[in-house]
Amino acid sequence: MHLRVRPLRPDDDAAIQLVAARMRDTLVEVLGEARGGSMYTMEWLVDRVRWHLNPKLCVGTVLLIEEQPSVIVGHTIVRVEPDDEDGGGGTLGLISTTYVVPERRRAGLAEALLRAGEAWLLSHGATRLATNTSESNWPLIRLYEKAGYSVVRRAPEVKMVQLSRPARAPSSQAAAGDGADALAQDLPGQEQLTVPEAELIGADEVTVLVDRVVSALDE
Ligand SMILES: CC(C)(COP(=O)(O)OP(=O)(O)OC[C@H]1O[C@@H](n2cnc3c(N)ncnc32)[C@H](O)[C@@H]1OP(=O)(O)O)[C@@H](O)C(=O)NCCC(=O)NCCS
Repeated sequence: MHLRVRPLRPDDDAAIQLVAARMRDTLVEVLGEARGGSMYTMEWLVDRVRWHLNPKLCVGTVLLIEEQPSVIVGHTIVRVEPDDEDGGGGTLGLISTTYVVPERRRAGLAEALLRAGEAWLLSHGATRLATNTSESNWPLIRLYEKAGYSVVRRAPEVKMVQLSRPARAPSSQAAAGDGADALAQDLPGQEQLTVPEAELIGADEVTVLVDRVVSALDE
């Protein structure tokens, strides 16, 4: 199967709508129809996708994984922001959501999206990488643990956890190049979906539990 990861273009309204609908599907799948389905309107979700694509508002992007010819089978949304957990001086690379269509799961697509999202975040200055999810979302938690992340925060009051790992050393970040260009890549086979060893530095850092509330799936 020929796969490609590419950034979502801000003028691609159909793909923006699709990603927003799949954000809603994610919330329903993780939280159930009653809570997940009523959490955000479709209008809000579309605005949220567009917000990540507007460089005046956000240093972020939406990455699509496509099967040829141009069938979008998954996406991930990433952004960088100040890291208040890092003494105020760091930059958090946040992977805010990831989705793969049910019929294409367990084929390494989410791993490919994670690797591409990490490359984009590292090339945009992230010093720490993280994602927030439901404490019972085992597929996602296993995905990130496999990639060297560990749980660094728990917010039991909202049943959320944060998984995190440090970024690579600054010297290797400089070699990453421009993420958007690097992401328009072909992924012809499973063997190319493995996270490089060099990106797993610090995976076993000490787990720190804090009581700060992780406010929502998409924050
Ligand atoms: C979580 C999700 C993105 C994983 O996508 P995927 O393409 O199936 O994942 P991959 O095939 O890349 O899996 C990579 C690794 O993740 C882990 N993993 C993925 N799905 C898993 C599952 N159902 N159970 C246990 N581990 C799982 C495994 O370690 C897997 O490696 P392996 O296949 O060698 O064992 C997908 O299940 C999904 O879209 N879920 C609904 C949306 C969602 O919950 N998104 C996150 C919201 S924050």
